[in-house]
Amino acid sequence: MEIIKVKDYDAMSEAACSFMVERINRIDHPVLGLATGSTPEGLYKRLIEKYKLGEVSFKNVKSFNLDEYVGLDKNDPNSYYYFMKTKLFDHVDIFMDNVRVPNGTADDLQQECQEHENAIRAAGGIDVQLLGIGANGHIGFNEPGTPFTSRTHVVDLEESTIKANSRFFNSIEEVPTQAISMGIETIMNSKEILLLVSGESKAEALAKLLNGEVTEEVPASVLKNHPKVTIIADEAAFSAAGN
Ligand code: F6R
Repeated sequence: MEIIKVKDYDAMSEAACSFMVERINRIDHPVLGLATGSTPEGLYKRLIEKYKLGEVSFKNVKSFNLDEYVGLDKNDPNSYYYFMKTKLFDHVDIFMDNVRVPNGTADDLQQECQEHENAIRAAGGIDVQLLGIGANGHIGFNEPGTPFTSRTHVVDLEESTIKANSRFFNSIEEVPTQAISMGIETIMNSKEILLLVSGESKAEALAKLLNGEVTEEVPASVLKNHPKVTIIADEAAFSAAGN
């Protein structure tokens, strides 16, 4: 595990951008696993800038998103599809046929999960999976207690996650209570993983990941078992880790 400590959110986003651009340019037909949320927003902004400068192209990129809320239409401003479209895809030369965000309004959610798995496999697996981390240690929407053997599945969101994500909604009642998420094993099958961590609210989760044991109670701790993980975290995120 390579750990890169940076000053703040901007420095994290900058370092993450260099990391991703290097991979996108080096890998022939890169397959990316993408995340939503506040953490990667700065990275996506910088990737758009690099694209505009002609320093990176997404025309050979395929991407798979980690998760999507159940029940939100893709045109709903709170859907993760909408997030990805407005924060990244609309601004770069990626082909929309090459992106896949789980469909949270599929009639058969189990089949949708299976199709996400099948599509990842058909693409040859994920080359680089981008992750954020929840304050409770979740990755994707894999809440504490999720089996390490899980594949893409429908999850019940924890109260703390619903609360954390309610900042994007008009009221907490509007936050969906379920999501489709890649499983832990789906994530672990990626060839390489980049975890971004910023801010004091993530400090405890990062400390548990770095200093604690590998346990399903801290989903992100599984990353210690992966051969190629890079963590880019800022000083505030390191504040509880003791290093
Ligand atoms: C998002 C995702 C989540 C977030 C995590 C952190 O696709 O899978 O695991 O990465 O909840 O969210 P932020 O970045 O908003 O703090």
